[in-house]
Amino acid sequence: MKRQFVAVCAVAALVLTSVSMSFALGEGNARKGKFLYRKNCRSCHGASASDLSPMSKTQAEWKATFEKTDAIACHDKWPADMTPEDVNDIFTYLHDFAKDSPTPAKCS
Ligand code: HEC
Repeated sequence: MKRQFVAVCAVAALVLTSVSMSFALGEGNARKGKFLYRKNCRSCHGASASDLSPMSKTQAEWKATFEKTDAIACHDKWPADMTPEDVNDIFTYLHDFAKDSPTPAKCS
């Protein structure tokens, strides 16, 4: 019984890995990315002049933006303790809920 469960988990992990590997940039965790975005970005990108949400861009535009994070206007103001994984999670969140994604989302 227990061994079966382990086998099922191993298969599930493999499937998940291969699905996420099909993205170059986006193998991050969108749920964590949403949390990190709220924590690190919403203070400036709130419901104000700099309002920014996943729906602000298409998936291709988010990809282009995050391929050159250095070129993002506020990059030097990002919290210094964010790891590349954190940034990738934020990218995954923004990309997966972009305006041309199957599940567009405002960041609320
Ligand atoms: C200290 C304030 C501040 C913080 C924190 C901040 N930003 Fe910004 N960001 C700005 C400002 C100001 C601009 C330039 C004006 C604009 O585009 O609204 C900007 C521009 C951007 C742009 C370009 C906008 C566009 O239309 O292409 C992106 C993308 C972006 N920020 C992403 C982020 C992400 C992701 C985070 C969190 C990791 C973040 N920002 C955190 C202030 C901030």
